[in-house]
Amino acid sequence: MRVALLANLKKNAPTWPGISPDLWDDLDSEKTTDAIANALRSAGHEVIYLEGNPDLVEHLREVKPDICFNISEGHFGDSRESQVPSILEMLRIPYTGSKVLTLALSLDKPMTKRVLAYHSLPTPPFQVFERIKEELDPDMRFPLFVKPSREGTGMGVTAESIVNDEAQLRSQLRIMFERYDQPVLVERFIEGREVTVGVVGNLTSPVAWRLPEDDEAPRVQKGLHFFPPLEVDMSRYPEEEKGVYTSKIKVEMADVFHYLCPAPLSEETVEELNWLTAATFRVTGCQDVARVDFRLDRNDNDKPYILEINPLPGLNPGYSDLCIEARAGGWSYEKLVNRILDEAIERYELE
Ligand SMILES: Nc1ncnc2c1ncn2[C@@H]1O[C@H](COP(=O)(O)OP(=O)(O)O)[C@@H](O)[C@H]1O
Ligand SMILES: [Mg+2]
Repeated sequence: MRVALLANLKKNAPTWPGISPDLWDDLDSEKTTDAIANALRSAGHEVIYLEGNPDLVEHLREVKPDICFNISEGHFGDSRESQVPSILEMLRIPYTGSKVLTLALSLDKPMTKRVLAYHSLPTPPFQVFERIKEELDPDMRFPLFVKPSREGTGMGVTAESIVNDEAQLRSQLRIMFERYDQPVLVERFIEGREVTVGVVGNLTSPVAWRLPEDDEAPRVQKGLHFFPPLEVDMSRYPEEEKGVYTSKIKVEMADVFHYLCPAPLSEETVEELNWLTAATFRVTGCQDVARVDFRLDRNDNDKPYILEINPLPGLNPGYSDLCIEARAGGWSYEKLVNRILDEAIERYELE
């Protein structure tokens, strides 16, 4: 097939004097797009790279792809990850991965948490601050964790994100508002292990965007393939990061990663994490691929909490969590990438 690979490369991102140095941290490198293109070519596809920018409409009309492999993160706006899919839907071009609503939702962590909470899925209790001076809800007990509502790749996440009292909370809120100009998410701090679960596939119908009401009902997750969970081995990072998967670790130390994959977890825990991943995938309307980030509460029997779902998980062949997980599950990078494409091809009934 003729596949257009759509992404936003860091090197093509707009820039201006005084730009925040971490603004484009979640964009992709050519190493990633080259690897994806080569993987798709190895399966016999013709691949054309297109930047997910305002010229895309014109370029798509010239290239006329059968399908797009979309990993565009977008540049501007609260729903930037959903902009390229919106264009593709207007032009009626098939594409891989989740659709407009899911990509807009998952970029907004509080909105995603509201959906999870509605379905009684475990996510840390939270409060959203729109101003520094809002009163802290009496149910919110220190220590708390402070982060931007709509960023990724650890942006705004440092050891100081853990706050132990009012003064630290207000100081961190101030920093977040100044730097990110968006509502700030304050959550209960979950002390414990850091685990992420990758999944490819699609739930086999009939399946609704809701969960069985009865806890005893069978857990429907047919059609999804779970990779072995990856644990970030926090004990091997500098102590000053305080066990948090910070921006510094994710970006500056990206190639000195310490992880355990498969994570040393009991079979029951893995089963529980897979179910929570399937449930999150389902209620947020994901398609083809996703990765769910968890923390296991050390102070409550390692109870898992869902931090977020990433419907556009990193695909850097060297260090992205999903690629490491696939490898641990016995999948080559080529197999992973082509499975994502094939899931979409099947959904659109292109073959
Ligand atoms: N409520 C929390 N309790 C403890 N640690 C947290 C909490 N929220 C986030 N973190 C830490 O911050 C990291 C990044 O947070 P996450 O919500 O996954 O954002 P990102 O989009 O940057 O990955 C997590 O991997 C974890 O180490
Ligand atoms: Mg995360």
